[in-house]
Amino acid sequence: MNGNHTFKLSETGFQRFRELVNRAGGVAITHAGKDLLRKGLAARAGALGVTTLEDYYRLLTTDINREEEVRRLLRQLSVPDTRFFRNQSQFDVLHKYIIPELARRKLEERRVLRFWCAGCSTGEEPYSVAMTLLDSLPDRDNWKVEVLATDLNEQALDQARRGWYQKSRMAGVGQPQRERYFHRSDGGFQVNDEVRRLVTFTRHNLVNDPLPIEVYGICDVVFCRNVIIYFTHSTAGFVIEHFFDIINPGGYLFLGHSETLWKLSARYALVEIGGTFIYSKPLPTSLSGRRFIPDRRMRDSGLPPGVDDDRRVSGSDRRATEQSAI
Ligand SMILES: C[S@@+](CC[C@H](N)C(=O)[O-])C[C@H]1O[C@@H](n2cnc3c(N)ncnc32)[C@H](O)[C@@H]1O
Repeated sequence: MNGNHTFKLSETGFQRFRELVNRAGGVAITHAGKDLLRKGLAARAGALGVTTLEDYYRLLTTDINREEEVRRLLRQLSVPDTRFFRNQSQFDVLHKYIIPELARRKLEERRVLRFWCAGCSTGEEPYSVAMTLLDSLPDRDNWKVEVLATDLNEQALDQARRGWYQKSRMAGVGQPQRERYFHRSDGGFQVNDEVRRLVTFTRHNLVNDPLPIEVYGICDVVFCRNVIIYFTHSTAGFVIEHFFDIINPGGYLFLGHSETLWKLSARYALVEIGGTFIYSKPLPTSLSGRRFIPDRRMRDSGLPPGVDDDRRVSGSDRRATEQSAI
């Protein structure tokens, strides 16, 4: 059963699968993404020896192992695209301003810094965060530093845990960091133990699983970049509200370059630091010298530079055209 063309996806079928995928993983699939969805379904159905997408839908909804197959399907549809120090200016801000600021604020408290990379894919993002933490905390030994890294794609997580990357994936890593945090291995680069020790990888579905707060506690910074862009508006709103509950007051939320909370949440403050825009959970009293921008400002006067207004159009055909599914 090879060859995607043998699988037909009717309009009713499309609606059903679309709903199922949305419920299970939050993913928004518009008509523009229909063919990519069909290809993903065909790949999974073909692998199982199922001959029609109707039968595959039945299997997904009634089979005893359906939960596992839904996970496989979400994995099939996921876009694991990532790289080290993606959107470098955010890491510059983290290094120059945010980590020093959090560290200053916590000097009198427990010296614990906790980060969460939600939708971490193959690990480049949480390792970049961990390297930045090591570079930014001068008295590192006096701090407990934790980076929780989660994703629903177990295959990506396996790669992430291994921490080994081909040379072609190392473009974002400067020479000093290559020397300090990697060693050569099997023709590629292995993240060293100093960095790996800081990062815990675990499977977590942002849409359906309980927040990891019980196990890992409140976070100072959440990275959730290039993940909610694939979600429906309501799912993205739900996820963003949950982040608010687990971010310490005065903590930060980093979104992807083309993601915005516009129309999603008014509880965060949009903060400009060094020309980069980040969201913060405000402290009871605002920090001095910091430029807070109410997010509703964007409605009247346009979006900040670099922030693409993908929510101005209801639905998200443009997104689906560009990025397929998850
Ligand atoms: C495009 S990658 C982004 C990786 C990284 N955050 C970055 O910006 O480089 C999107 C990741 O989000 C994950 N993802 C999608 N839906 C998810 C969900 N409901 N729960 C957890 N992770 C999800 C995908 O598996 C994928 O690894």
